[in-house]
Amino acid sequence: MGPMPDLYELDHVPTPPALPGTVIVRPTPDDLIDAVAADLVMQAHACVRTFGSFQLALSGGSTPVPLYRRLMYDPMYRGLPWGRTHLWVVDERRVPFDDERCNFKTINEIIGEHSDIPRDQVHPIFAMLPDADTQYEQTLRDVLGWREKGHDRLDYVLLGMGADAHTASLFPHSPALRDDGSERLVRINAGPSVTPPDRVTMTFRLLNASRCLAIMVTGAGKRAVLDRIAEAWAGSGGRLDAAIIEQFPVLGLCPLGGELRWYLDHAACPGTSEPT
Ligand code: 6PG
Repeated sequence: MGPMPDLYELDHVPTPPALPGTVIVRPTPDDLIDAVAADLVMQAHACVRTFGSFQLALSGGSTPVPLYRRLMYDPMYRGLPWGRTHLWVVDERRVPFDDERCNFKTINEIIGEHSDIPRDQVHPIFAMLPDADTQYEQTLRDVLGWREKGHDRLDYVLLGMGADAHTASLFPHSPALRDDGSERLVRINAGPSVTPPDRVTMTFRLLNASRCLAIMVTGAGKRAVLDRIAEAWAGSGGRLDAAIIEQFPVLGLCPLGGELRWYLDHAACPGTSEPT
């Protein structure tokens, strides 16, 4: 008899990096979509059962686009209760709605127009308005305010991360990282470290009040920064100071009473050695 085939190939399974919260690792971006989508659908049903609605905030960027498509065409996920879902946008570029860089344009073309989500439950950021931030904050307060005190928060926020460790439009060393005492939920963010154009973004205050924060990171291009983030987290002993968050804004995600979940594919995992 010849040698047994190596069925499990354990050598190729990367050790998940130590990060705050739960780290979920899957071999490919496609496998990762299944992991995120299954959790999302479960959360959605649980929230609709408990609160009567599901408050979902989605990010832009390229990573989650295939997930959004799968949510629409894969029969496994078509059961997401869109009719009871409120759809929010985590951050927006200050561009018109018909601009290719507009996050809402992408999200709406894939989900808004192809699900049975009622129009008045879709909440774009009117990013071109001078008071885009206060207006979006007011809409959030109005809609979430229908819930009982304590339940008036976002249920599921899908985030990405840039190679500079920004998340949402919270860029390293940018003004919106800092609580200016105004306790704002949404802010305009601009300045030298903000990749143009200027942005409107949910703040840590709002994000960290959420029931579930999911950060999806794929590809070898994010591996080095994840490595540095894991190192900073390990070195902090779990007590992050403002200077670390200024450098690695994604480490500012720390849900007060909710869950933080990282979804990584093998390529993004530090310690993997696939060709980039
Ligand atoms: C955006 C995002 C931003 C994004 C990261 C990662 O609007 O661009 O909200 O935070 O998630 O920049 O982007 P990629 O997925 O394209 O790498």
